[in-house]
Amino acid sequence: MIANPAATPVVELRAAEKVFDDGTRGLVPIDLAVQPGEFVSLIGPSGCGKSTLLRLLANLHAPSDGQVLWWRGGFDQVGGDGRRLSFVFQEPTLMPWASVLANVRLPLDLAGVPRQEAQARARAALQAVGLAQAQDRTPGQLSGGMRMRVSIARGMVTRPDLLLMDEPFGALDEFTRNRLDADLAALSRQGGLTTIFVTHSLYEAVFLSSRIVVMASNPGRLFGEMRIDPAIVRDQAFRLSERFALLCRDLSVLLTSAALASGEGA
Ligand SMILES: Nc1ncnc2c1ncn2[C@@H]1O[C@H](COP(=O)(O)OP(=O)(O)OP(=O)(O)O)[C@@H](O)[C@H]1O
Ligand SMILES: [Mg+2]
Repeated sequence: MIANPAATPVVELRAAEKVFDDGTRGLVPIDLAVQPGEFVSLIGPSGCGKSTLLRLLANLHAPSDGQVLWWRGGFDQVGGDGRRLSFVFQEPTLMPWASVLANVRLPLDLAGVPRQEAQARARAALQAVGLAQAQDRTPGQLSGGMRMRVSIARGMVTRPDLLLMDEPFGALDEFTRNRLDADLAALSRQGGLTTIFVTHSLYEAVFLSSRIVVMASNPGRLFGEMRIDPAIVRDQAFRLSERFALLCRDLSVLLTSAALASGEGA
């Protein structure tokens, strides 16, 4: 979906900053507005505040100053039709004793969705991540990549409008990661979804994003951004294209500058 700059931003930071209780400056005041349908990746050196920024957007942290807005309002705007939010953590955080199906169904059970409908939707979400056959297993019987896919199915089962993902594929091998990136690109292409995605991989950022926000540290801040035509189909042909290679090169240059500005050398 193509972002419409005139639309109401799904989520917005207005001079939002974060100083932790121990005095650590997590983020200097930040302005950022994300429009419906955008796929925004956050990338930058370790400790530059990517997770902190995502946690502000998920209302898991309150800003020390400034504002975070959801659909131009407070966090009470979130929930219900057209305004659902899901957060996928770096670790799958599944219930080890419960079946894969029960794990995916959990957010629907919590929301009071009738059992039969919840069951059907959880099955469909598992199908979408290629895990229909594994629904009766427990997380301990799955590989790391499969567990992550369960976690993504659980994030998607509520049909979120805003999906926040903190390095969801960081611990996976490249093959599995590429596959999940392709799945995520396909889900994103179906439209209606706005995604903010933290990654350390510049290839992953280029593959998935319509906008890449580069951050720097000391102190944590926005450093620059790069836009990629959202109309490009994110498939294997794109991954192997010269265009992809050139975009990766441009992003690499920007990341090197961000590392230098963070006092890290390159
Ligand atoms: N609860 C906390 N209390 C104090 N300082 C914190 C807290 N959480 C994060 N920080 C600090 O804030 C800064 C930003 O942390 P954050 O976790 O957002 O970085 P990050 O960009 O996600 O790093 P990484 O790429 O390693 O995950 C770091 O200096 C970190 O030590
Ligand atoms: Mg982090």
